Amino acid sequence: MAHEPPLRETAPSEWGDANVTIHNNAQSKKVYRFMSLNIVILAAGQGKRMYSALPKVLHPLAGKSLLHHVVDTARQLEPARLVVVYGHGGDAVRAAISDADVAWALQAEQLGTGHALAQALPHLDADLPTLVLYGDVPMVRKSTLEHLAHQAGAGLGLLTAHLDDPHGYGRIVRDGGGGGGNVRAIVEEKDASDSERQIQEINTGIMMLPARVLGDWLAGLKNDNAQGEYYLTDVIAKAVASGVAVRTAHPAAPWEVEGVNNKAQLARLERVYQLQLAESLLMQGVRLADPARIDIRGSLVCGRDVSIDVGCVFEGEVHLEEAAEIGPYCVIRNARIAAGARLAAFTHIDGAAVGADCALGPFARLRPGTELAAGAHVGNFVEIKNSRFGAGSKANHLAYVGDADVGARVNIGAGTITCNYDGVNKFRTVIEDDVFIGSDTQLVAPVRVGKGATLGAGTTLTKDAPAGSLTVSRARQKTLEGWKRPTKVSGK
Ligand code: UD1
Ligand code: CA
Repeated sequence: MAHEPPLRETAPSEWGDANVTIHNNAQSKKVYRFMSLNIVILAAGQGKRMYSALPKVLHPLAGKSLLHHVVDTARQLEPARLVVVYGHGGDAVRAAISDADVAWALQAEQLGTGHALAQALPHLDADLPTLVLYGDVPMVRKSTLEHLAHQAGAGLGLLTAHLDDPHGYGRIVRDGGGGGGNVRAIVEEKDASDSERQIQEINTGIMMLPARVLGDWLAGLKNDNAQGEYYLTDVIAKAVASGVAVRTAHPAAPWEVEGVNNKAQLARLERVYQLQLAESLLMQGVRLADPARIDIRGSLVCGRDVSIDVGCVFEGEVHLEEAAEIGPYCVIRNARIAAGARLAAFTHIDGAAVGADCALGPFARLRPGTELAAGAHVGNFVEIKNSRFGAGSKANHLAYVGDADVGARVNIGAGTITCNYDGVNKFRTVIEDDVFIGSDTQLVAPVRVGKGATLGAGTTLTKDAPAGSLTVSRARQKTLEGWKRPTKVSGK
């Protein structure tokens, strides 16, 4: 019985919604029958050339580990079984992805890609074909994998590419020596003859293997080669010998099959990835001053007429609503910026919600738990943490507002500090509507400033300030009549 190849329509723009999790769940049940396959991700390698204590597959690309990228792409194909073969990095790799849909197969010793896949066999459904992915090839797209599966049919599918410089890769050997014949074998660089090394068609490593024969093929692998390894690539010759069709497919873009072996390749892929995201934002109508100077490490959802200047970094989940303007070099993490808000240069926001038409920065800092209502202003060197600001309230210069409930239309003068911490406990400060706080004021929490109150400059407020009155705590100013500056005593 031949197995149906996975068939499914490709999303119109996978990069467009790569950061938005909409999968066509409505169709998934129906599609599932066609989609049934095992997926094995090989991730046991050490990654020596990363020169890092972190296992290679845990290095981040766009804020997410290489392995996580591959797992997420694999999930889009809705595999019946999803197995990661791990070894180097051991428990750290397992701990990084704790979801129950992933099975783990330990390859204690790295004896080759064929040996690695064999470790996954006990977890696989022997009646389904198996797609092999690499944990360090993070950018392969779902549509390319679907194309490969479609090409493979009930036979063996290889994802290959033509490279100007094929050095280091396994070469695709075809009948008749030329490019057009049937695939006969894959020969590794280290085992290749001089003429085989001239072949420019390379093995990306990603392949679709037919059901049921896989176990026998893997059991029959030998390691009598230049590297003394059990090569997965040797199954191609086995397929040819047993009359199983071998077909090839190519990635839509070359970077899909680029692997990460060192930090230079990682940095290169990061730029490719970021450019894809930037182009998809541009196509959605977002204005980017320079698509080459933006970094999105998570998901960024933008409304109409949003504009983003150079050098901004977005992390976690960020929403920029209609006509929000983000100035240069802002860092924004897990935040919602409402319509028409303007962030001047070097504004730093983490875990905060900014209301409509607010004006922030330059050099403003919002820390977790901050909520600004519409029209609030937060100026340079103002830090706000775990506080609410009512509509139209302002802190324009040099202030720290922490654990405070600030009403509407409040003006917080330069140098104002909420003293929210006694070294052990944190306390809240309440500032009611229409309060005016003079410069250089300390509010020693817990403390409340009543509606419409004014605090004189330099006040250290330790008790509640009544509504509507002026409260001031400072020594009365005096001038000493007849006082003279000392003069230099002669002879000294
Ligand atoms: C492999 C292919 C080669 C292909 C190249 C593409 C073989 C024999 N060769 O070569 O044809 O052109 O990838 O990049 O398959 N791994 C394990 N356990 C092991 C060995 C490897 O899990 O024992 C994993 C690695 O973590 C990595 C992947 O398999 O994710 C590829 O291993 P690597 O050693 O880089 O293979 P190459 O020699 O580059
Ligand atoms: Ca490699």
